[in-house]
Amino acid sequence: MSTLTLSEKFSTGLNEFLSQFPSDGLYAPIHYLLNIHGKRIRPLLALSVCEAEGSSIDKALPAAIAVELFHNFTLMHDDIMDKAPLRRGQLTAHKVYGEDSAILSGDAMFALASISLEDVNESALLEILKIYNRTSREVCEGQQLDMEYEKMNDVTIDHYLEMIRLKTSVLLACSCAMGAISAGASKERVELWYKFGEQTGLAFQIQDDLLDTFGDSEIMGKKVGGDILSEKKTFIWLYTKAQGMMPENLSSCEESAEKVSLLKSAMIASGADIAARKKMMVYTENARTALSQLDLSSAHLKTFENLLSSVTERTS
Ligand code: IPE
Ligand code: IPE
Ligand code: MG
Ligand code: MG
Ligand code: MG
Repeated sequence: MSTLTLSEKFSTGLNEFLSQFPSDGLYAPIHYLLNIHGKRIRPLLALSVCEAEGSSIDKALPAAIAVELFHNFTLMHDDIMDKAPLRRGQLTAHKVYGEDSAILSGDAMFALASISLEDVNESALLEILKIYNRTSREVCEGQQLDMEYEKMNDVTIDHYLEMIRLKTSVLLACSCAMGAISAGASKERVELWYKFGEQTGLAFQIQDDLLDTFGDSEIMGKKVGGDILSEKKTFIWLYTKAQGMMPENLSSCEESAEKVSLLKSAMIASGADIAARKKMMVYTENARTALSQLDLSSAHLKTFENLLSSVTERTS
């Protein structure tokens, strides 16, 4: 089945699920954010893995819906934490509805994700709940580190890698694993899919960080330079610092555009963008190794290879 068909099927399933709930009040910000849907990589992973494991994608639909709702919940709260004005080319939910509403509607979206899991097949339910609950907790831990690191000056690349594993890659890993569990795959195969998702997720966040500094705001639908202004300890920031190339007059920068431009030049001069791409390739190679151990048919292998390229070459 082509990705297009998978994504159409996902949209139908998500809309059917949401139709059980009102669309106004508490639910208005939820519809607002979901209606400007993003790449939907996490549900597509869950459904594609389930299919590659030889099962009907319907079995993974509740998990796929849950993971997209969970992801959007984290985005709604992340945009408040990161003071982000734009998401998917439109104003962020808190800019439209206010912070209080975005906090509460985010919480409701988290609850909706759990409600979707009520439809998981009984034989897979406990395993799915275990990995989903663990992942939810880990994502919060990652977001906490992301915030703490803004104020810290002794963050290392290893700290950063663990932080992005928690805030981003465990959710891609969980999406893959839940797709495999829904299909009734063996423990060994679930672990290999988890590994594939985790390594893909690490590459995914490094690319996200590159785009935040070097991307095109129009294409991304997000503001460029936000990470620099919040002093996020991204790979490219830490690499530039480790090379001794951090501009000295940074703290006296009064204009945010000036700060972004100073940092961008320093990052390029230090070769941080090139080093980040190299690092990303290490993770996509690891993801390919997991794929090869899964011994997939050539058609399924191609699906996941295309997915990997779309992660590293994406512009949004
Ligand atoms: C953005 O995720 C948040 C990160 C973990 C980097 P996506 O880039 O998948 O966002 P959408 O859902 O496609 O908008
Ligand atoms: C977001 O990371 C990770 C989560 C939402 C858990 P970012 O803060 O880098 O994501 P964007 O760039 O705002 O999409
Ligand atoms: Mg953030
Ligand atoms: Mg953010
Ligand atoms: Mg980002």
